[in-house]
Amino acid sequence: MAFVITQPCCNDASCTEVCPVDCIHPTPDERGFRSTEMLYIDPETCIDCGLCVDACPVDAIFRDDDLPEAMARYSKINADYFAGTEIEYADPAPSLKFPKTDQEPFRVAIVGAGPSGFYAARELLSFKRSGIEVDMFDRLPTPWGLVRAGVAPDHPETKAVTDVFAEVSRRPGFRLHLNVEVGKHLTHEDLMEHHHAVLYTVGAPSDRHLGIPGEDLPGSLAATEFVAWYNGHPEYADHTFDLSGTRAVIVGNGNVALDVARLLVTDPDKLARTDMAEHAVEALRGSAVREVVVLGRRGPVQAAFTSPELLALGQMPDVDVIVDPAELELDSHSAAEVAENPAKRLKMEILREYAERPLAGHVKRIVLRFLASPVEIQGDDHVSGVVVARNEMVEGPDGTLRASSTDQTELLETRMVLRSVGYRGVPVADLPFDDARGTIANVAGRVTYPESGEPMPGTYTAGWIKRGPSGVIGTNRQCAHDTIALVIEDLAADRLPAPKGDREALEALLADRQPEALDWAGWKAIDARERELGKASGRPRVKLLDLAEMVAIAKK
Ligand SMILES: Cc1cc2nc3c(=O)[nH]c(=O)nc-3n(C[C@H](O)[C@H](O)[C@H](O)COP(=O)(O)OP(=O)(O)OC[C@H]3O[C@@H](n4cnc5c(N)ncnc54)[C@H](O)[C@@H]3O)c2cc1C
Ligand SMILES: NC(=O)c1ccc[n+]([C@@H]2O[C@H](COP(=O)([O-])OP(=O)(O)OC[C@H]3O[C@@H](n4cnc5c(N)ncnc54)[C@H](OP(=O)(O)O)[C@@H]3O)[C@@H](O)[C@H]2O)c1
Repeated sequence: MAFVITQPCCNDASCTEVCPVDCIHPTPDERGFRSTEMLYIDPETCIDCGLCVDACPVDAIFRDDDLPEAMARYSKINADYFAGTEIEYADPAPSLKFPKTDQEPFRVAIVGAGPSGFYAARELLSFKRSGIEVDMFDRLPTPWGLVRAGVAPDHPETKAVTDVFAEVSRRPGFRLHLNVEVGKHLTHEDLMEHHHAVLYTVGAPSDRHLGIPGEDLPGSLAATEFVAWYNGHPEYADHTFDLSGTRAVIVGNGNVALDVARLLVTDPDKLARTDMAEHAVEALRGSAVREVVVLGRRGPVQAAFTSPELLALGQMPDVDVIVDPAELELDSHSAAEVAENPAKRLKMEILREYAERPLAGHVKRIVLRFLASPVEIQGDDHVSGVVVARNEMVEGPDGTLRASSTDQTELLETRMVLRSVGYRGVPVADLPFDDARGTIANVAGRVTYPESGEPMPGTYTAGWIKRGPSGVIGTNRQCAHDTIALVIEDLAADRLPAPKGDREALEALLADRQPEALDWAGWKAIDARERELGKASGRPRVKLLDLAEMVAIAKK
């Protein structure tokens, strides 16, 4: 008997820490860790102790004789990883030691209450010493960043990671300030005056553009907007989407594209049992969309989506997944990539199954297209179609395979085009910005002036706004760890002078600048209200959308 890791895996690697026989890989000190789609348990080594199950923050681990039907394939997926992968260790990250210092209390501000902010706070508050104070700020009246506003409503297990973050809030030294926007209510200078170090973990809330004609027509939208809308982000609650066409086209081949495709054709009665925003469930009930076409500009081997998310599409009971076998024919470079990489092999195996499987004749369908790029969005006062060019793969100067359009085109009629070609960071007031990468300018997490290369004293970054918008929840754990290592290094080298103001001074300033700031207790009141509303309708929660109402509930 062995345990098996399944689809919700968030790569946070809590499981690898508790495993007594080192049977879970890749571990954070292996070369494959940063690029792996998920973690895997070696059935040959697993001793069936179950410690990993308790440690997993997203309920992704099951005994192999107890796998839910939809996860049955993961037994083989876990075992196959060990058949095809050589474990290669990198230099292990040194464990962090808090230096001897007379800077007490040591005060750190964290801007952004998403995964990277919470992982950083946990790292700081795990040092076995008192006298560390973390003040965390978020512009929304709710914490958790994209775990609340991005993760798909039909992935409730993934949202369980917030229990790990909630535990941080109970640690002495931690304070949460919600409904406080840095750049509006407080400046960077304000934060520096009250902390030794300021860490920005503000994520990447904006989107990338395609740069093609017609992109700004009504009906052509960013997936970021659609995701925020269905997840009840207060700033997107009043957006509307025209779902009157029978076909929607999604541009991009990442996991966000698959989330959106899946939700567009999921039975609304199922969605009504999730925490999807009410307005979205209602709009999707009236939706005419029957076919979602997902356009990948490169080939299937280069698709950015992961096998677990691809597998989940094929398990939808009332949706046909359509793949044209001709689009799975590989050029020699792609074939070589598949031969070398077990994750790519698995992806191709699943796609071939979809291509070969007879259609069940369901009313709804998802069509996965490859080597296909939109070159023009057509329409007069609204999108009416997309011109799609057939691409071929060419090797770029750096050896990566790129898509190059041919003059072979086709028209796909549609009223809705969602571009899902990646998120993008936005500049943060008073900080240098790297426009090419869409990140705060930084070197490994130290915010750095690009012109001089000098670090901005006491200023750091982690998560998507440090690395760019990629990586799953757990990826931010290692990223936050790496940045906190620099904070500690600078503290040890006496580069973090004492701030002028203490916590009380900060509280006084906040009371003046944002009387509607909410603390952890305020969030718990909102959380309780949402859960209570959910209970009445058989849902995990009903998200509140109105800021004034949330503040009123939190302040009661
Ligand atoms: C649609 C979608 C679905 C995803 N699904 C999954 C999944 O199923 N599993 C998985 O493992 N990963 C998933 N991910 C990836 C995961 O969500 C990210 O890796 C992670 O959220 C990034 O964390 P972060 O802390 O860097 O940013 P974020 O989560 O974006 O958090 C940033 C926080 O900063 C706050 N903020 C921004 N500006 C300010 C300011 N000026 N002042 C104060 N606060 C500010 C924001 O309100 C936000 O709360 C998904 C991502 C997306 C986009
Ligand atoms: N369930 C989950 O675990 C889950 C769910 C959602 C998101 N996430 C994670 O969140 C991160 C962000 O996801 P994402 O989907 O937004 O980004 P992503 O993984 O970077 O995918 C972006 C996609 O857009 C394509 N693209 C970029 N520019 C394009 C253009 N001009 N024309 C056509 N296609 C273009 C990319 O193709 P190229 O490769 O050719 O550039 C790629 O396929 C990822 O790490 C993802 O795994 C995880």
